[in-house]
Amino acid sequence: MKSVPLYLASIVAAGAPAFAQNYTWTNHPSELPYYGQSPPVYPSPQTNGTSSSRWAAAYAKAREILAQLELEEKVNITGGYTGACVGNTGAVPRLGIEPLCFADAPDGIRGSDFVSAFPSQSHLAATWDKDLFLAYGKAIGREYYDKGINVALGPVAGPLGRIAKGGRNWEGLSSDPYLAGWGMYQVTTGMQSSGVIATAKHFLFNEQELRRRPNQTYDPIGEAISANVDDRTAHELYAFPFYDALKAGAACVMCSYQRANNSYACQNSKLLNGILKTEMHFEGFVVSDWEGQHTGIASANAGLDVVMPLGSTYWGANLTQAVNNSSVAVDRLDDMVTRTLAAYYYLEQEDYPDVGVFSDTEEHPIVNVQRDHKKIIREIGAAGHVLVKNVNNTLPLKAPQFVAIYGYDADIKAEPWENVARYGGGYEVNHLWNTFNGTLIVGGGSGGNIPPYVISPFKAIQDQVIEDGGIVRWNFWSEQPHVSATAQVCLVFINAYASESFDRPSLVDEFSDNLVKNVAKNCSNTVVVIHSAGVRLVDPWIDHENVTAVIFAGTPGQESGHSLVDVLYGATSPSGKLHYTVARQESDYGNLLDHTISDEWFPQSDFDEGLYIDYRAFDAKLNVTPRFEFGFGLSYTTFSYANLHIEDLSSADNTSVSAFPDASIPLVQGGHPQLWDTLYNVTAVISNNGTTGASGAEVAQLYLGIPNAPLRQLRGFDKVGPLAPGESATAVFELRRRDLSIWNVVEQQWELQKGSYKLWVGASSRDLRLEGEIVVS
Ligand SMILES: *[C@@H]1O[C@H](CO)[C@@H](O)[C@H](O)[C@H]1NC(C)=O
Ligand SMILES: *[C@@H]1O[C@H](CO)[C@@H](O)[C@H](O)[C@H]1NC(C)=O
Ligand SMILES: *[C@@H]1O[C@H](CO)[C@@H](O)[C@H](O)[C@H]1NC(C)=O
Ligand SMILES: *[C@@H]1O[C@H](CO)[C@@H](O)[C@H](O)[C@H]1NC(C)=O
Ligand SMILES: *[C@@H]1O[C@H](CO)[C@@H](O)[C@H](O)[C@H]1NC(C)=O
Ligand SMILES: *[C@@H]1O[C@H](CO)[C@@H](O)[C@H](O)[C@H]1NC(C)=O
Ligand SMILES: *[C@@H]1O[C@H](CO)[C@@H](O)[C@H](O)[C@H]1NC(C)=O
Ligand SMILES: *[C@@H]1O[C@H](CO)[C@@H](O)[C@H](O)[C@H]1NC(C)=O
Ligand SMILES: *[C@@H]1O[C@H](CO)[C@@H](O)[C@H](O)[C@H]1NC(C)=O
Ligand SMILES: *[C@@H]1O[C@H](CO)[C@@H](O)[C@H](O)[C@H]1NC(C)=O
Ligand SMILES: *[C@@H]1O[C@H](CO)[C@@H](O)[C@H](O)[C@H]1NC(C)=O
Ligand SMILES: *[C@@H]1O[C@H](CO)[C@@H](O)[C@H](O)[C@H]1NC(C)=O
Repeated sequence: MKSVPLYLASIVAAGAPAFAQNYTWTNHPSELPYYGQSPPVYPSPQTNGTSSSRWAAAYAKAREILAQLELEEKVNITGGYTGACVGNTGAVPRLGIEPLCFADAPDGIRGSDFVSAFPSQSHLAATWDKDLFLAYGKAIGREYYDKGINVALGPVAGPLGRIAKGGRNWEGLSSDPYLAGWGMYQVTTGMQSSGVIATAKHFLFNEQELRRRPNQTYDPIGEAISANVDDRTAHELYAFPFYDALKAGAACVMCSYQRANNSYACQNSKLLNGILKTEMHFEGFVVSDWEGQHTGIASANAGLDVVMPLGSTYWGANLTQAVNNSSVAVDRLDDMVTRTLAAYYYLEQEDYPDVGVFSDTEEHPIVNVQRDHKKIIREIGAAGHVLVKNVNNTLPLKAPQFVAIYGYDADIKAEPWENVARYGGGYEVNHLWNTFNGTLIVGGGSGGNIPPYVISPFKAIQDQVIEDGGIVRWNFWSEQPHVSATAQVCLVFINAYASESFDRPSLVDEFSDNLVKNVAKNCSNTVVVIHSAGVRLVDPWIDHENVTAVIFAGTPGQESGHSLVDVLYGATSPSGKLHYTVARQESDYGNLLDHTISDEWFPQSDFDEGLYIDYRAFDAKLNVTPRFEFGFGLSYTTFSYANLHIEDLSSADNTSVSAFPDASIPLVQGGHPQLWDTLYNVTAVISNNGTTGASGAEVAQLYLGIPNAPLRQLRGFDKVGPLAPGESATAVFELRRRDLSIWNVVEQQWELQKGSYKLWVGASSRDLRLEGEIVVS
């Protein structure tokens, strides 16, 4: 007999479905801290574009259209129809209103052709470069615009990366909410500056693939996993980067598949009406994840505005009826429609290009939107490479004459056209990934892109060797390849795949580890390159005396080989830093290694580690030292840190030093405007003090010890350079009210902490070079 918590009594009693007949009820739900229901937050807030004059103008236009719409026409705009794109709202032919076209993915347009395959967003995050974040958003947004796609389904800060094996972690930016927040802010700004509506997703707590959706044949049958997260953690970790996306003006938010406190995210009033639309004052519209809607009236009243891919399942004619009989207020329907139309006007999409997304199977006009994006793809690709070992300056390579290349990840697996999906075209095919091993440029599932071409490592290295007048030897498939005694460098390529719809089976694989060891046994200069969609452990061979250099090459997109050669041969010095923690062994991640497994009908995942994920957890467990800590990454030169300077800007403005933001000031999209006030300005001088003669850029990081919070949290970063040897630059860290605050669960507000905040500036979360203090009185 299985037990089911007490609150389910009413559900079970109401319909007693067969599966529940043999359950007994737990008598003490208090023993299960989060086995509660999600608190009701009703009615759904109506908004009116008060955040800015731009929103106000968009709302004025939207209301003008709304006033002309009949009931059924309004309903038509709230629900999807089959059409040209992966998502299409209903049209209103009478008024010439066209469907809005929605398309994947966060790293390039999926399901089309003549588009670019950008690095994944986690690769982007590894650059820690705010300018590149912006350029990435702009370029991707431009491709969406040119294809006539109104709504781009990205950027991603959920999953955040709570568990190391999460199947979609590579789609999101970072497991640190501050770094992810900057990514969300800049990518959203960039995308929307190109005219496309950005969709911040997935809201909220979509942290595992197993049982993310109900009743899936490949999972134990039953309802979706319930992420049970306390209020403080919800704000300080998971919602945090969404504030940044909203601050940047994101006009769409996608609710997630799984449940939160047992209520599906797309019908969860606490998440949508409460956190998103009240606290963050979201002015745009909420779209469901595809087939993420499970009720009609409840989802409407909880704050869902647009349902995809089909409106007719729960809404459509039934929503018309529900409004007609007052089960759903007409104001709620009007709010859904106004929000959606306002997003369209906010982005000034009245004169938008025609939809140019076409099926592969039909002959069609060519709409080539690639422009010169290959340049920025190559640059971001290189900037996101993280060098973690480099004995005796093995790298950069100095025109070696004999280069040996090993591992299937070096090459493109020559397969028929259909298997382009290996690069992420569709998870049905990706599931067979073992038979399609080739170089990894992005992960799989709906977050993958379709490359116009792929520059494999093999191609790019061979081109370089040709230029250097040397020779190249290769073996892509053997686990025990021949190593020539003359080889000057042995480049070993391994990868670690991940995809939507399943979590990773492991953070290592034996074939690849054996390959590295077998090559290293016979080659005293073995350089390992890891393409991975998430954490990949290296302990089986990292200390091998012949493994002289190791690069985490991430998921760099179509220019993969070029980006790598730029780093390997020193055209650019590596400056990427890890955006997650690489442990020594899987068990070091503890409960944060893997998804929560449950064969219960109502599976529960209690996030009882609270704020302590990734480096926050490693810092708290004193006896576990990571192999490579969060923020770590080497360069071809070294840097010194000096002159920490902290300027107090809070005293200039008396109102801003109070513990809470001023309650009399109205909220705007992104939350209370004072959350974004800079209270302290911190600077440090970074110098290239290396002796190798190499120039290089450095990502300086600021960590803050907020009272009553984890030991250290990232609250600033600045990439300075490239600096020539002997050259210096000032790194600037502006600390905003939110960055210094914790979420007060009683007051339901961000609160500054009285007392001393320790402050560190350094090269990683454990390589802390300068120390200071802020005292808030
Ligand atoms: C409940 O238990 C009875 C007796 O053991 C069994 O016959 C029946 O199949 C069970 N029902 C379900 C839905 O598991
Ligand atoms: C979930 O429940 C916890 C504990 O009661 C509460 O703090 C939190 O606000 C709830 N969150 C949601 C989204 O329901
Ligand atoms: C929204 O603003 C317009 C123009 O200022 C006003 O006419 C309308 O009453 C407002 N609606 C709501 C619901 O506040
Ligand atoms: C609803 O949208 C569909 C699909 O775009 C369109 O064919 C239909 O005419 C629309 N219905 C109304 C009432 O406008
Ligand atoms: C899953 O299937 C069960 C049994 O058929 C059903 O009662 C339940 O409503 C389904 N859940 C969803 C969200 O569709
Ligand atoms: C829609 O309404 C019809 C008629 O009332 C009802 O039979 C049907 O079950 C409803 N569909 C859903 C998905 O609720
Ligand atoms: C609304 O309800 C009225 C009467 O109950 C009915 O005559 C009318 O057709 C309904 N309208 C719609 C759009 O369903
Ligand atoms: C690095 O270089 C130094 C000096 O040439 C040498 O003594 C040392 O053995 C080298 N280390 C390795 C691991 O090759
Ligand atoms: C593909 O890669 C996996 C993991 O690295 C390995 O187990 C498998 O043998 C490889 N398949 C082929 C055909 O090499
Ligand atoms: C390192 O490589 C050299 C040269 O091939 C070899 O003699 C030596 O045994 C290797 N070291 C180890 C630990 O395998
Ligand atoms: C550069 O500065 C760092 C940090 O201050 C120091 O550890 C290192 O020895 C310096 N390097 C050189 C070559 O002086
Ligand atoms: C912080 O300091 C930098 C460098 O002096 C300066 O450029 C920036 O404007 C300052 N920011 C604020 C908010 O004062």
